[in-house]
Amino acid sequence: MDAEKRWLSIDGPEFIEKIGIRKGYTVVDFGCGHGHYTIPAARVVQAEGRVYALDNDEEVIRKIKKKAVKGLFGNIVPLLVPKDLSLGLEKGIADVALLYDVLHYLQERERNKVYAELHRILKNDGLLSVYPKHYKSDSPMWSLADMDIEDIIKEITMIGFRLQNTLYEKLFHFHSYASGHILTLRKVGKEGP
Ligand SMILES: C[S@@+](CC[C@H](N)C(=O)[O-])C[C@H]1O[C@@H](n2cnc3c(N)ncnc32)[C@H](O)[C@@H]1O
Repeated sequence: MDAEKRWLSIDGPEFIEKIGIRKGYTVVDFGCGHGHYTIPAARVVQAEGRVYALDNDEEVIRKIKKKAVKGLFGNIVPLLVPKDLSLGLEKGIADVALLYDVLHYLQERERNKVYAELHRILKNDGLLSVYPKHYKSDSPMWSLADMDIEDIIKEITMIGFRLQNTLYEKLFHFHSYASGHILTLRKVGKEGP
């Protein structure tokens, strides 16, 4: 079995359960890309749950739609993110939101908008799971190049989240296995900032 298949069918679902996702949950995967976390999450939540796969790239959304049909994942809902980053999802709809390997694409103002939108659509007590990549001490790139993991935690907690734990996990990055930090934050406060 190749690495991607193994991740999507075995190690990915195990990881998704480890961060607290369960059968029947509603999950929002912001910046879903090729679905390396969307598909394992869809396996774990099963038909009783739903995974909203969000991206601002039309091609990505088209491909994820195709993968969902091919893999019979009727519980994946692909959605295109507009320029203003308003997510068009109902308030309090999600148990868990994923922000995986995407923060470095966003400027500070955009990141704050995304945190606020995820805060709005999460249930009270919902979880925000973040896989920060390309920050200062991790092959720095783009908007996170001057920030370290503590700065990222600080900026997210300002919006109404509390850090629950930090894990160091075997993950899938781009085309292969990699290890990285996973931040788990819990929504605090009923209203957004
Ligand atoms: C490096 S990929 C990560 C994909 C996936 N989360 C993973 O970890 O495998 C980053 C994704 O974020 C998307 N992205 C970048 N800026 C975005 C924005 N403003 N709104 C939504 N998605 C965005 C990109 O199109 C890309 O698919």
